[in-house]
Amino acid sequence: MNAPFSGKLAILGMGYIGLPTAVALATRGIEVIGVDVNRDIVAAVSRGEVPFVEPDLAISVSGAVAMGRLTATTETPEADAYIIAVPTPFNGDHTADLSFVQAAVEQVAPKLRPGNIVVLESTSPPGTTQKLAEWISAQRPDLRMPDDSEPNADIFIAHCPERVLPGRIMIEIITNDRVVGGLTPRCAERAASIYRVFAQGEILLTDAASAEMAKLVENAYRDVNIAFANELSLIAESLHIDIWEVIRLANRHPRVKILSPGPGVGGHCIPVDPWFIVSAAPLLSTLIRTAREVNDRRPHHVAEQVVAKAQRFRSPTIACLGLTFKANVDDIRESPAIEVVGLIAAALPEVDILVCDPYVDHVPAALSGYANVRLENAHAAVERADIVVLLVEHEPFKAMRHTRLGGKVAYDTRGVWR
Ligand SMILES: NC(=O)c1ccc[n+]([C@@H]2O[C@H](COP(=O)([O-])OP(=O)(O)OC[C@H]3O[C@@H](n4cnc5c(N)ncnc54)[C@H](O)[C@@H]3O)[C@@H](O)[C@H]2O)c1
Repeated sequence: MNAPFSGKLAILGMGYIGLPTAVALATRGIEVIGVDVNRDIVAAVSRGEVPFVEPDLAISVSGAVAMGRLTATTETPEADAYIIAVPTPFNGDHTADLSFVQAAVEQVAPKLRPGNIVVLESTSPPGTTQKLAEWISAQRPDLRMPDDSEPNADIFIAHCPERVLPGRIMIEIITNDRVVGGLTPRCAERAASIYRVFAQGEILLTDAASAEMAKLVENAYRDVNIAFANELSLIAESLHIDIWEVIRLANRHPRVKILSPGPGVGGHCIPVDPWFIVSAAPLLSTLIRTAREVNDRRPHHVAEQVVAKAQRFRSPTIACLGLTFKANVDDIRESPAIEVVGLIAAALPEVDILVCDPYVDHVPAALSGYANVRLENAHAAVERADIVVLLVEHEPFKAMRHTRLGGKVAYDTRGVWR
């Protein structure tokens, strides 16, 4: 019962989660087939390349492909187990968009054979893993789905949420504890056998809805704490008190650990996942909703501050340092830095805005409509700028305080130039 999985495994979605998981399994001897609807991604993985930046991933991908353990395709193959790691964004009304998950399930269903395992890794609202069984059942009435009254199920279905941190994925995918929630205890046990191949952290077995909710709660917890720091920053600013100093002092209390304020909350998870809780229990989620609103308001506040500073100049140039959603990664999804730049560019259409990021080599699509926004290298941008706005604390930017900023108006949203 406790033996690690052996067999052929297909992973749907070769993104930030699916590809590292594929590599973690393939480098430990599992035959992994990576499936993606994006042909460019499939071509890159097939060449042993990584279509995005993540430390230590490239060497593992090229090794796994060279060993013949990892292949990539656009067609979902027959396998012994399937992991679904496709996007779960939200709709305009903040409900979860499960269309990618449903499409992936519809690709898997025709291939299923009795004894197969299906694991949903995509972050999902409570009840999604159960829906997955219903979607499969609709396509494959010949297969017995797992539920408490069906001890002899043909298919084992579970949710195993992912909690890795971009920039540290290859370490955390191995060392983090894993929550594996099955539609039945047997499903959890069978799904856990996959993670036993590579996970060094503890594997915690539970039911599917608890696993779904635990993942959402983790990110809502982070979001609420960030909102607290961001709200403190607003209050301190209005009282002309240095928020960084206040937090430094308060955090010397043995049971206080206030996070850092910033220009907003970005990435694929924290700005999205709390909404799945809010839409599941809208009348009861007042704190979680408010935290989302506080954090979503943040880029507007930062942009307003920059626009106010620009009024001091006749024709200022503004350098905005950082475009990614966090430091030292190339991920620009849901990046508050990009939102800040867009808001400034829209408010000051006559002003030159130079954007710089060591991890981004193009003006992101969200900014391409602004004729006054241009990509520039950081040193040239700062040299030319009257106002320098630090939006992301990439390592090379931290050092600029002492060398580059003399005589400029510096607005540090991350507290690294203090
Ligand atoms: N990125 C993170 O740090 C992180 C952390 C924890 C959880 N998650 C969750 O993991 C899931 C995947 O996130 P990600 O960051 O890897 O996304 P991603 O966008 O990097 O990758 C998803 C991949 O799925 C592919 N895809 C879409 N539909 C498909 C289909 N029907 N069949 C096959 N491939 C398909 C896309 O082309 C894309 O390459 C999401 O639910 C996300 O919330 C992400």
